[in-house]
Amino acid sequence: MIIDGKKMAEAVYENLKNEIQKQNITPTLAAILVGENSASLRYIKQKQKWADFIGIDFKLIQLKSNLTQIELEKKIDEVNNNTSIDGYIVQLPLPKHINETAIISKINVSKDVDGFHPENVWKVLIGDSTGFVPCTPAGVMYMFENMKTNLSGKLITIVWRSNIVWKPLAALLINAWATVTVCNSKTVHLKKHTSTADIVIMATGQPHLLKVDMVKIGTTVIDVWFTVIDGKIYWDADFDIMEKIWNTITPVPGWVWALTVAMLMKNTLKAAMLK
Ligand code: GUN
Repeated sequence: MIIDGKKMAEAVYENLKNEIQKQNITPTLAAILVGENSASLRYIKQKQKWADFIGIDFKLIQLKSNLTQIELEKKIDEVNNNTSIDGYIVQLPLPKHINETAIISKINVSKDVDGFHPENVWKVLIGDSTGFVPCTPAGVMYMFENMKTNLSGKLITIVWRSNIVWKPLAALLINAWATVTVCNSKTVHLKKHTSTADIVIMATGQPHLLKVDMVKIGTTVIDVWFTVIDGKIYWDADFDIMEKIWNTITPVPGWVWALTVAMLMKNTLKAAMLK
């Protein structure tokens, strides 16, 4: 079976649109973009498109790449205190001369719709639902919920790279009573950990790292990352082969991104309702 994340995301957008109309509110989402990273700008345009679609007011705050830490912190204070902004994100990555951790820690917790602030990360760890769950982990959990996958007692192996995503995801899965193994680039004998898993979640950026002989029959493989080489998409998992042999659940291109953006919009509505 192939999961169509875009379809799932569209259903979320429709629900949010209806809810916003019902509440008769216009939530406001801002995005702070430092510099002119073209990928970041592309991501932000997608966020803007869906915000427009569901009735969220979107503000892009674009800052020059050579601004100082202090200047950026001042801007963060300004946005924190701006009562017309319900939620905002600081698009990552930030330029190298900026201390990213310090910036994230300055975000007003109740406007932190990316769920990156330490207090929100802590709430995810302890299973306190009053905070904001980071959007990609929230998207993966939404997908399991939508598929009616019972995570309790499941063996789940995560092979991940990004700090802000896999640790919250591991916590969410643990809180759902899964038994979670987290692997990284230093893991010895990756196959040992993937071949016993009921579910494998990948996001490494290493094309075809997960081969067909590294998972057991019936394993659900969720691949969150792909790499493009000479115009061809390579998932972290070698789906071309896996699909032919097993009934593996696989994403179609764009599914994770679609659900990530949908969860950002959901968090923005939550922020607006918390006011
Ligand atoms: N850069 C890549 N993904 C994300 C995201 O989800 N949020 C932010 N703020 N920056 C990103």
